[in-house]
Amino acid sequence: MPLSPKTTSRTKACLIGHPVAHSRSPIIHRHWLKTLGIDGSYELVDLPPDGLNGFLDQLRQGVYAGCNVTIPLKESMFDRVDRTDDTAKAVGAVNTVWIEGGKIIGGNSDVHGFMANLDESVPRWQEATRQVVILGAGGAARACTYGLVERGMRVALVNRTKARADELAMRFGAAVTAHSDDETDALLGKADLLVNTTSLGMQGKEPLRLDISRLRPAAIVYDIVYVPLRTRLLDEAAARGHPTVTGLGMLLHQAVAGFEKWFGARPAVTPDLRSLIEADIIAKTPSS
Ligand code: ATR
Repeated sequence: MPLSPKTTSRTKACLIGHPVAHSRSPIIHRHWLKTLGIDGSYELVDLPPDGLNGFLDQLRQGVYAGCNVTIPLKESMFDRVDRTDDTAKAVGAVNTVWIEGGKIIGGNSDVHGFMANLDESVPRWQEATRQVVILGAGGAARACTYGLVERGMRVALVNRTKARADELAMRFGAAVTAHSDDETDALLGKADLLVNTTSLGMQGKEPLRLDISRLRPAAIVYDIVYVPLRTRLLDEAAARGHPTVTGLGMLLHQAVAGFEKWFGARPAVTPDLRSLIEADIIAKTPSS
């Protein structure tokens, strides 16, 4: 039976994962539904890994037009959709799902979110950027690396567990090199762009201990952590005169693709939306 996302008058989308309670995605999508005058909904569905089959059945029955996918389901969803787009294939994970021609399709909009946020924050960044240093080699690093390599960058991955960085370097070829923590200082001296993709510095996690005094003055510093809104890394970098990029824009821009697929209108990342999410983060994390 051909599937259609429009089997009910009120189009529904959701976020699946575990946990999902603290996600800001409902605020983002509900803001867009309201401002665009669309009669749709966006829900949180807390789903244990063994609940994926049941959820896929619901998708096939047209209960949802699609969903976002978060931890720990991004890789298992990649294996379960009918088809993946090129970006999801390259990253090996799916964070956005929609129905097309009766099939369940998986994409990865983290790559677009990461790059669009950089383009918006430092519009001419590419003019003087060749060498990037990425801290971390997890799922987020994989999306960031792919986006940067696509734009012609060389990427040095630094990770506590070097084997994970080696694996990513193998996946992406000659433009990507893998390094252990003890090489960080030397690498920072050559970086045009430094990106933190680890969870260090996030509210409730250990701080990121990094001496950025070796960075060249024009080097850009990008932290994908967005709780707190400005991490200590970004404050230190800004105090030293570096252009900085905060993580919230990545969350906002990654949401655009799913909304457009499910609800049929391309939403904008506006200052109003940004203020709404910032207010929510500040209200729930008093020290941010
Ligand atoms: P994500 O999908 O958000 O990238 P992840 O795959 O769990 O999450 O990756 C988290 C990253 O933060 C990894 O690079 C991890 O390093 P390891 O591969 O060595 O685990 C890094 N990270 C987390 N806690 C860390 C810590 N205390 N010190 C150094 N790196 C840490």
